[in-house]
Amino acid sequence: MKIDLQKKNILVTGASRGIGAAISKELGKSGARIAIHYNKEKESAEEIAQIIGNDSKIFKANLQEPVNCEMLFKDVLEEFGHIDVIINNAGTAILSPLDSENWVKQWDETMSINLRAVGILCNLAIKHFKTRKCGRIINIASRAAFRGDTAEYLAYAASKAGVVSLSKSIARAFGKDGITCFVVAPGWVKTDMAKESIEEYGEDYILQGNSLDRLTEPKDIAPIVTLLASGLADHATGTTIDINAASYVH
Ligand SMILES: NC(=O)c1ccc[n+]([C@@H]2O[C@H](COP(=O)([O-])OP(=O)(O)OC[C@H]3O[C@@H](n4cnc5c(N)ncnc54)[C@H](OP(=O)(O)O)[C@@H]3O)[C@@H](O)[C@H]2O)c1
Repeated sequence: MKIDLQKKNILVTGASRGIGAAISKELGKSGARIAIHYNKEKESAEEIAQIIGNDSKIFKANLQEPVNCEMLFKDVLEEFGHIDVIINNAGTAILSPLDSENWVKQWDETMSINLRAVGILCNLAIKHFKTRKCGRIINIASRAAFRGDTAEYLAYAASKAGVVSLSKSIARAFGKDGITCFVVAPGWVKTDMAKESIEEYGEDYILQGNSLDRLTEPKDIAPIVTLLASGLADHATGTTIDINAASYVH
């Protein structure tokens, strides 16, 4: 199977690090031009753009603010002319115990980045894709959407469950407009986001829950996303692909 993404413009959010960076590089190997979104890590985003080539560009936006989500989409359209695929990957996992005095603030911050921004970017993408009668959306959720999470991550799990439900609705509602929508739901992945927890619990503990012999890495997520972006799996629209080394099979 040959995946050719030449002449495809793909917006990847949270592409400066971790899973988003690996996805962007893999898409780039198939020829895609990537809009590399970042928030704080400009240098890292620039490095990724250089590695990928294909006239890829970097775009800054703090997705916590709705207006920035809109600006991001507009900026990418202005620079690239059109978008073929959007990958909503940017996310945050804020530790928030029940008795945290900032619990509501942490809940809102989690929801604004992990769910509201995804909703806004999907809205904009759908309207754009409708004019082209073609487009793909890939949303990165989490195993936590199905399994739940620990007491400190109630908002995180709830936000990811929202992403799954949003994606299913999009797949059902806009298929006839040529739009497909998929979810990829990782378990533990060795990135900055998981670092603290991996240090707290230890790799061995996490590995006990996996059926494979090493922790999942960003490079293990990227090929599936590339396949979904290619259009070769369009009839799987609405589906969630679990990539969690069988740590949660549902
Ligand atoms: N790692 C895991 O174990 C795991 C498991 C399941 C699901 N996931 C999901 O996979 C996705 C990627 O996670 P990761 O592990 O690669 O995370 P990561 O290494 O912490 O990277 C997070 C990315 O999101 C961006 N981001 C964070 N807050 C943002 C904000 N307010 N506005 C805009 N961008 C923001 C960051 O941009 P800057 O670096 O430029 O600030 C960065 O590019 C997330 O949706 C996460 O929930 C991760």
